[in-house]
Amino acid sequence: MLSVENVVSGYGETTVVNDVSINVAPGEIVVIIGPNGCGKSTLLKTIFGLVRPGSGKIAFNGEDITGAKPFELVRKGMGFVPQTENVFASLSVMENLEMGGYTIRAPDLEEIFRMFPVLEEKKKERASSLSGGERQMLAMARALMTRPKLLLLDEPSAGLAPKMVEVVMEKIKELREGDSSVLIIEQNAKSALSIADRGYIMVMGKKVFEGKTHEILDHKEIGRLYLGKRGG
Ligand SMILES: Nc1ncnc2c1ncn2[C@@H]1O[C@H](COP(=O)(O)OP(=O)(O)OP(=O)(O)O)[C@@H](O)[C@H]1O
Ligand SMILES: [Mg+2]
Repeated sequence: MLSVENVVSGYGETTVVNDVSINVAPGEIVVIIGPNGCGKSTLLKTIFGLVRPGSGKIAFNGEDITGAKPFELVRKGMGFVPQTENVFASLSVMENLEMGGYTIRAPDLEEIFRMFPVLEEKKKERASSLSGGERQMLAMARALMTRPKLLLLDEPSAGLAPKMVEVVMEKIKELREGDSSVLIIEQNAKSALSIADRGYIMVMGKKVFEGKTHEILDHKEIGRLYLGKRGG
């Protein structure tokens, strides 16, 4: 479904993503874990056409999309929830959803409200009045308005209380049941790995490990370095 091959990208002269290859199969949840500043968001932005790769190739559903623009990618079935400023605070919940659904595929608002009942309850309220968790729900729901086949999520649980982290993870799991693939970046590595099929570890712009989630969880050194496990 998504194939990223040997992508190098960054800002100006600075290389941030250095020769990274990853892929996502249909119906998969794949997580990328790595320390702050290692280039995770830049990789996601490069996939979504917000940062242009210096070299490498990105394909989506077998089609070369290297250098394609975000709006083109949305039309092709890709959705993106950025790490920050992912809702319009001054607009109402409903207006945020409408902003998300401007493209050709008719949004399934009923399905979205079934998944996020709190958004229906608060649809007339301003997004700025929502809690952190509710905002993340709104950001995800907004991206779902275009019925993406692949959703890119940049740290959807950042800054949330542990209980809310679990709620967000459950919602992400539901996306797969709705037939979408998900590529997710997470600091809450253990929570993300509990819902993912596979994962990648990135350090300083490079992919240093990849495997099924149990291989990552069972890996002593990875566990110690990136999952806060002791010993090993
Ligand atoms: N717009 C930008 N212009 C210049 N440099 C940038 C820009 N955005 C990010 N960087 C730099 O690129 C590097 C990687 O940033 P990136 O946001 O991709 O990391 P990250 O892995 O997502 O980090 P975090 O876990 O903190 O979100 C950092 O050194 C950062 O300072
Ligand atoms: Mg980031």
